[in-house]
Amino acid sequence: MKALCWTGVNETAVETVDDPRILNDRDIILKVRLSTTCGSDLHLLGGYIPSMRAGDVLGHEFMGEVVEVGAAVRNHRVGDRVTVCSFIACGRCWYCARGLFSLCDNGNPNPGLTDLMWGSAIGGCFAYSHALGGFAGSHAEYVRVPYADQGAFTVPDGVSDTAALFASDAAPTGWTGADGAGITPGDTVAVWGAGGVGQMAARGAMLMGAEQVIVIDRLPERLQQVQRYIGAETLDHTKDDVVAELKERTGGRGPDVCIEAVGMEARSTGPAYLYDRIKQQLRLQTDRPTALREAVYACRKGGSLFVLGVFGGAIDKFPMGALMNKALTVRGAQQHGQRYIPRILQHIADGELSTEHLATHVMSLDDGPRGYRMFKEKQDGCVRAVFRPDGAATPAR
Ligand SMILES: NC(=O)c1ccc[n+]([C@@H]2O[C@H](COP(=O)([O-])OP(=O)(O)OC[C@H]3O[C@@H](n4cnc5c(N)ncnc54)[C@H](O)[C@@H]3O)[C@@H](O)[C@H]2O)c1
Ligand SMILES: [Zn+2]
Ligand SMILES: [Zn+2]
Repeated sequence: MKALCWTGVNETAVETVDDPRILNDRDIILKVRLSTTCGSDLHLLGGYIPSMRAGDVLGHEFMGEVVEVGAAVRNHRVGDRVTVCSFIACGRCWYCARGLFSLCDNGNPNPGLTDLMWGSAIGGCFAYSHALGGFAGSHAEYVRVPYADQGAFTVPDGVSDTAALFASDAAPTGWTGADGAGITPGDTVAVWGAGGVGQMAARGAMLMGAEQVIVIDRLPERLQQVQRYIGAETLDHTKDDVVAELKERTGGRGPDVCIEAVGMEARSTGPAYLYDRIKQQLRLQTDRPTALREAVYACRKGGSLFVLGVFGGAIDKFPMGALMNKALTVRGAQQHGQRYIPRILQHIADGELSTEHLATHVMSLDDGPRGYRMFKEKQDGCVRAVFRPDGAATPAR
């Protein structure tokens, strides 16, 4: 079959690879209808996540049609239209039983490297390096979905393929952050990053009762989407002093909840940013924590910070003093989508959550390398490049 593969740092190519097969009774095989790029793919593409191999099939945010079902699968039949959680979880281990699905003890068949890097291995993810399981991704005609009863969710009639696509990764990641940060009705929430993840975190926060939500980015087309489709306030970090402006808009106190949805490749200006870039390029630190630091400074005393942006290793100049003395609660996670996807699909069906607007560029899988370049360079207002393995392309919205 045809698949879009990682072939080296900042290089992808459409290649012919083996068709997936059922390997386990709890697997299904999915014919991919739509698969999209995510900010996490950029960290892979840029070589910041170790243990990628040339020829690995990319893609972890996807939906499609079930074409084959393992003998032990109960919830799905051939022909079902499903969206699939990007993290793979067994549904039965100690962590799954507590709803911490991305920490599943059985999701990652290759736990050695992350065990060494982080003290414990976390679960597995489609196409997220061999350290996170070495699973083939969804930028392909077909994909094997392990533990399908746990990770695949039937899309309700009336929810389009495009809308359901983002219930796979961007939206449940946003919900993981908003819920995990412990939003209570009336809260003020600031979200760093207006990509798919930040936008969904902002909408999740609103649906969980936040009164004021402010999304920070520098890209005007993304900030416009936030105003139009999410209904949140915006802030351009290249025009305003973010910490001062957030205080100004919150009666001098700062946001109750801060959600970081930028991750290890944050951008900024000034000497501190230059220092981070140089250190990252020299591999003296693995990640650029620009937005993370700002969130720690901006958060109100006793507030809560949730880190959704992906970080891989160690960072420098982390404001530990501010964190400790201001009594902040800090959490982070890869998404626990198995917990949130049914509710997200329902919000879409009920007209409470817009996701389709994220699909700014829809193209054939053959155009994958171009799609990745556009997404990486944020060209032509690209928020997500969406690939259709059946070949049909539709004009950009
Ligand atoms: N925790 C999870 O399960 C999970 C799942 C998906 C993605 N992610 C991570 O979430 C992050 C965002 O993903 P995405 O798909 O929205 O990515 P994206 O690349 O589309 O968006 C990132 C946004 O951050 C903005 N940004 C950069 N520097 C900033 C700064 N200093 N202040 C404010 N905004 C800044 C960029 O302009 C961009 O709009 C990535 O790190 C990704 O790896 C995590
Ligand atoms: Zn993702
Ligand atoms: Zn498990």
